[in-house]
Amino acid sequence: GVSQLGKYTLEDLKQHKSPDDAWTAIQGKVYNMTPYLKFHPGGVKDLMRIAGRDGTKLFMLTHSWVNAEFMLDACFVGFLVQGP
Ligand code: HEM
Repeated sequence: GVSQLGKYTLEDLKQHKSPDDAWTAIQGKVYNMTPYLKFHPGGVKDLMRIAGRDGTKLFMLTHSWVNAEFMLDACFVGFLVQGP
């Protein structure tokens, strides 16, 4: 259940910025993008621009019509929270 999911800060996200361990946050939810990388229609390089950080702004600028929450449901690892 949701209670077992992690809570991550922006500092935590920074530890996951390589293709084999690529996390991002979109609208408050943290995703492990690694399994999705090779499926991104815009390519790996563009997607990696939001690895290790909050990708909300860039994602919304490029394709706000894409339902990332639905698409990345299986990649959902937890919630973005404020740092201590
Ligand atoms: C296209 C998903 C992040 C750049 C697409 C499409 C999807 C998608 C489903 C096809 C959209 C359509 O044809 O209407 C995602 C998801 C992302 C993400 C789930 C985040 C987890 C990004 C980022 C960038 C980007 C950060 C840019 C820095 C592009 C580009 C295309 C595209 C340029 C157009 C590719 C083409 O049609 O040739 N993305 N995207 N995407 N995406 Fe992303």
